[in-house]
Amino acid sequence: MKKLTTFAAKLDDVAPGKTKKVCFPNHGPILLANVGGTIYAVDDTCTHEDSSLALGCLRDDKVKCTLHGSWFSVVTGEPTDEPADEPLQRYQVEINNDEIWLNLTPIE
Ligand code: FES
Repeated sequence: MKKLTTFAAKLDDVAPGKTKKVCFPNHGPILLANVGGTIYAVDDTCTHEDSSLALGCLRDDKVKCTLHGSWFSVVTGEPTDEPADEPLQRYQVEINNDEIWLNLTPIE
């Protein structure tokens, strides 16, 4: 399998049940989330009013925005509670030699 283009973090940097915000040149920050050993990647910026989701907690596959309380699935990107009503963009993740690599073009 072809390695994805952008190194994001070491796998050990994102423990199960935890998240990590990662930044890249010319791209908005991305939130990595470890759900039961599977890494997901979504935009870190809440679609409601631009708060960082890395400030919130991860519960199962959902992350909470601390500013107004919306929850988002890190698997689907969809908000599950108002006030946010737009989904987060998602990114393809590949684990290679205990490293997390991303494709920074959002999944359609
Ligand atoms: S900024 Fe996230 S719910 Fe308002």
